[in-house]
Amino acid sequence: MIIMLRIADCIAVSPLLLAPLAGYSDLPFRLLCREYGAGMCFSEMISCHGIVYQQKKTLAMLASTPDEHPTAFQLFGADPEIMGKASALLAEFSPDCIDINMGCPVPKVTKNGAGAALMANPLLAENIIKRVIEYSELPVTVKFRSGVDSGHITAVSFAKMAENAGVSAVTIHGRTWSQGFTGKAERRIISQVKEAVSIPVIGNGDITTYKEGYAMMDETGCDGVMIGRAALGNPWVFQEKGRPLDLSSILQGVLRHLELIEHYLHPTDRMLGLIKNIAGRYFKYLPGSTALRKMVYESPSLLALQHNLEELRQQSIP
Ligand SMILES: Cc1cc2nc3c(=O)[nH]c(=O)nc-3n(C[C@H](O)[C@H](O)[C@H](O)COP(=O)(O)O)c2cc1C
Repeated sequence: MIIMLRIADCIAVSPLLLAPLAGYSDLPFRLLCREYGAGMCFSEMISCHGIVYQQKKTLAMLASTPDEHPTAFQLFGADPEIMGKASALLAEFSPDCIDINMGCPVPKVTKNGAGAALMANPLLAENIIKRVIEYSELPVTVKFRSGVDSGHITAVSFAKMAENAGVSAVTIHGRTWSQGFTGKAERRIISQVKEAVSIPVIGNGDITTYKEGYAMMDETGCDGVMIGRAALGNPWVFQEKGRPLDLSSILQGVLRHLELIEHYLHPTDRMLGLIKNIAGRYFKYLPGSTALRKMVYESPSLLALQHNLEELRQQSIP
């Protein structure tokens, strides 16, 4: 059965979505995941200050193409006025939704009151949501955690606050702020949020396959599932048949990813380390992965890497 996810007027043809991943969910990876079946992809978190003050590096993160729709750009910040202004400016870059980050536990973000710190300050969170909605004509969504810590599990009241403030969907990562990425994502809290609100609920945390994604929807009643870490080096996670077992298909995936990086990012030598990190992840579970990753890390340029991988692909075609 085909399940679609609707967020206001925005329709995702699959309920499995790419999560925002700082440093990874850029335009090439979002396009790749859409090609491999993700219903919709979320950008990495983008600073509202960077947008409002037109910082070059931030503006570069707003690159998009019509092929990737539907897409959501994620904003982070703690100043309602700047968040509002940034969301107004985002419209120019044509995302389909604006997502607000209220779940990032990284101290660099929370020390300024943004990300997961907003779960400790629901009044400010509400103010931010209202400002963003006021300034933008796009649907607004919010991504947050189960609560601040195990003594303060507030996702249900937080979700209701967000719904009343006017958001079109919520994403709930079933861990607390204090857990960071440790422990297991709690599914019960996703069910409780789903029962409490009537907007779409997207579940998130620890999903590693298509089947697990659908199982989370069955178990919790959530309307969609966001996949983060398991998509790195594995865009097949959005497909029922999953990651291929043969080297030739894996190479096809990594070469396509590199082609998109080359086309959209025009990478400089400075990016070579990151590109090798991205490419190396594709071989993680393959027999002989050590030798394959060594080859990736020893390639002196993107061109050489592409050439080596293509040569290997030709040899591995059955
Ligand atoms: C490298 C990395 C970067 C992340 N960046 C963001 C981000 O920019 N915004 C956000 O809301 N969450 C971010 N997250 C959290 C993920 O979106 C997701 O909530 C979390 O990884 C749990 O999902 P998973 O188990 O499928 O990975 C990041 C996680 C990782 C591992």
